[in-house]
Amino acid sequence: MTREEVLDSVKANVENENSIKHMLATEAIMRALAKRLGEDEEEWGLTGLLHDIDMELTGGDMSSHSKLGADLARELGASETMAHAILCHNEAHGVPLETKLDKALFCADPLTGLIVAAVLVRPDKKLAGLEAKSVLKRFKEKGFAAGANREQISRCSELGLELDEFVGLGLEAMKGVAADLGL
Ligand SMILES: [Fe+2]
Repeated sequence: MTREEVLDSVKANVENENSIKHMLATEAIMRALAKRLGEDEEEWGLTGLLHDIDMELTGGDMSSHSKLGADLARELGASETMAHAILCHNEAHGVPLETKLDKALFCADPLTGLIVAAVLVRPDKKLAGLEAKSVLKRFKEKGFAAGANREQISRCSELGLELDEFVGLGLEAMKGVAADLGL
């Protein structure tokens, strides 16, 4: 399973450009997390890239979202570890987070939304000038990007990361793919 095959499959199943960008952002954060934690960067990155592949196929039905995604990932050649992380990133299934990969995907997913929202309120709408301290300030504003689940992001602690390090790492990772994200 190459990255190109995964990206082609994501694009074949997801039309919405912002959804594809969300998966690219998640991939970038997952790669950075794997590097930081001494884990497999390709495995973690591709899990991030794949994690919402069923978003449009399941049409917002949270009882099937990520179950289908895990099956599609397996068909593409993803390992059981990857499929499990994809399955349990949707809490609706009640599948507990077990592996580091499960925990990483779970906390990286909503961080992308918080960072994108923090960029979009900037006049230049560019990641380059955004600082981690600004994102952390936004994190504490409950009404800001309320869909970016703070409790979920905070579970980076289960990977041994403080929130400020996690936010900084995520921001730098997204800056690295800013052109792909159009930010
Ligand atoms: Fe997601």
